[in-house]
Amino acid sequence: MKKGIILSGMRPTGAMHLGNYFGALENWIKLQDEYECYFFVADWHALTTGYEDTSNIKENINDLVIDWLSSGLSPEKCTMFLQSSIKEHAELHLLFSMSTPLAWLTRCPTYKDQLSQMKDKNITTYGFLGYPCLQAADILVYKANFVPVGEDQLPHLELTREIARRFNFLFSEVFPEPQPKLTKSKVLPGLDGRKMSKSYGNTIALSDSPDTIRKKVSTMITDPARIRKDDPGHPDVCTVFSFHKVFNEGEVTDIEEQCKGGKIGCVQCKRNLAEKMVNYMTPIYERRQALLQKPEMIREIIEAGNENARKRAQKTMEEVRSAMKIDW
Ligand code: TRP
Ligand code: SF4
Repeated sequence: MKKGIILSGMRPTGAMHLGNYFGALENWIKLQDEYECYFFVADWHALTTGYEDTSNIKENINDLVIDWLSSGLSPEKCTMFLQSSIKEHAELHLLFSMSTPLAWLTRCPTYKDQLSQMKDKNITTYGFLGYPCLQAADILVYKANFVPVGEDQLPHLELTREIARRFNFLFSEVFPEPQPKLTKSKVLPGLDGRKMSKSYGNTIALSDSPDTIRKKVSTMITDPARIRKDDPGHPDVCTVFSFHKVFNEGEVTDIEEQCKGGKIGCVQCKRNLAEKMVNYMTPIYERRQALLQKPEMIREIIEAGNENARKRAQKTMEEVRSAMKIDW
């Protein structure tokens, strides 16, 4: 018996990197065994900040699903679907927009942050302001019990709970209040030691080939104070060491000692890491190569997921319309 309903989504914004993988996807893969999981490609959400240029969206949707499947999400264990295929999200979003006070949206911290950060895009739009309301619809239309999110998404989940409470109070108890599921995720820096991010060009993509991984690892920033092999190193400031903590748990204490004692060189330390990473990532890479040969299979998996998700969403919408007495 599964422990409850989990729902989460990701925006299709292009090739996933290891930061995204360890930040969320690795966790989803574990959750699919324990919970009834609904995972969706949040293509409408991608429009809230990227409505001007939609030329890559189909490709990005496909790539995201390939990232999921090659990492180990399985259509036998979870429901994977596309947000824009389930029109019930849009209907519930519209209904919630009627009863959500503007102030709940304008005081949302992520709203204020992004408005001040995204200077290159015009996001002073109705859709961007209302995005937490759409997210509430995404979650509540499946009556999800738990939502795995990062800390940054907590205000949105709180808003979802407020929207659910308000609906239940105004009409009738239709929605459970979803709980956040905060899980420790492993944090990997980028190749240059800053946060791993596409905009910094410091990523390792989930789709990188073994040779690309080896090349990228060889360019990683190490302890800048270390010039010769016998200089004592400071693993705590070294990017390579952060990666050893994730990919090479068995040797990490030895490496720390040897580095501090000036007993290993950075080149050798990087080669060791690269091989551990290649071992971890090769199965993912090979599954990807196989999937790329079968584009119709990806479509079938999403269509089957859509069917499944739609059934659940339709049932909730019947209850919503009836509670609101708009089921004429
Ligand atoms: N807002 C999330 C993001 O930008 C994606 C998302 C949309 C989501 N709807 C969701 C996550 C519902 C969890 C639940 O990453
Ligand atoms: Fe980093 Fe390894 Fe070099 Fe130490 S030996 S500084 S951990 S790369």
